[in-house]
Amino acid sequence: MKIVGFVASPRKAGNTAWVVNTILEGARERGAETETWHYGDLDIKPCQGCLGCKTGKKTGCVLADDMRKIFPALESANALVFGSPLYMGQMSGQAKIFVDRLSSQFMPRFSPFYKEQAAKKLIVVFTQGNPDAGMFRAYYEYTKNMFQLLGFAVDLHTVVGTRNGPAHEQEGLCAVMRQVGALLVTEESCPR
Ligand SMILES: Cc1cc2nc3c(=O)[nH]c(=O)nc-3n(C[C@H](O)[C@H](O)[C@H](O)COP(=O)(O)O)c2cc1C
Repeated sequence: MKIVGFVASPRKAGNTAWVVNTILEGARERGAETETWHYGDLDIKPCQGCLGCKTGKKTGCVLADDMRKIFPALESANALVFGSPLYMGQMSGQAKIFVDRLSSQFMPRFSPFYKEQAAKKLIVVFTQGNPDAGMFRAYYEYTKNMFQLLGFAVDLHTVVGTRNGPAHEQEGLCAVMRQVGALLVTEESCPR
C-alpha cells in the first residue's frame, strides 16, 4: 500500500509537518510505503483558470511546475494524508493553491467534465492554535464535504491548542496519530 503525504504549511518542522509525518509513521509500521511532499520545497503555481485541462487534448494541467511530479504520485497512491495549519479560520493559502490544482485531475461531482471513479482514502488534518475544538467546526465540516465532492473517502482530524505548545508535546497525541496511520492501512475504507 502506498500513502502520499502533503504538508501545506511553510514550516517544515512545524506542527502540521509533525502530525502528517506521525500519521505516516503509523502507516509504515503496518507495512505501508510512504512519501511526503512539503509545499515549501515545491514550485506550485496557482491555477490560471485556463481550462486547458478540460479542453483540447485534455492531457491534464498545462502548467509546467512541480505538480507534474505530484500528480503521478497522487494517482499511484492508495491513500493520501493532507495537512494544513488553520490560517484566519481556513486552510492556509498554500493549501488552497494545491487544492485548486487538484481540479485538473479529480472530479468535482458538480462538474460535467469527469467520470466518477472509486473513492480514494484521504486523511485531512488541520492544526490550530486555539484550544477550543469547536470554534472552527463549521469550516472543518465544510472542507470535509468539499473533499468528498472531489471524490475522496474522507477522515478528518484536528489538532488544537498549538499556541500553548508544539503538537509533539501534547500528551498522547503521538499514539493517536500513529493509530490514525495504522488504521489507514488495516481498515477496508474510511467513512465518507
Ligand atoms: C497567518 C496565521 C493565521 C492563523 N490563524 C489562526 C486561526 O484563525 N485560528 C487558530 O486557532 N489558529 C490560527 N493560527 C495558528 C496556527 O493555525 C497554528 O499555530 C498551527 O499549528 C501552525 O501550524 P504549523 O506549525 O504547521 O505552521 C494562525 C497562524 C498564522 C501564522
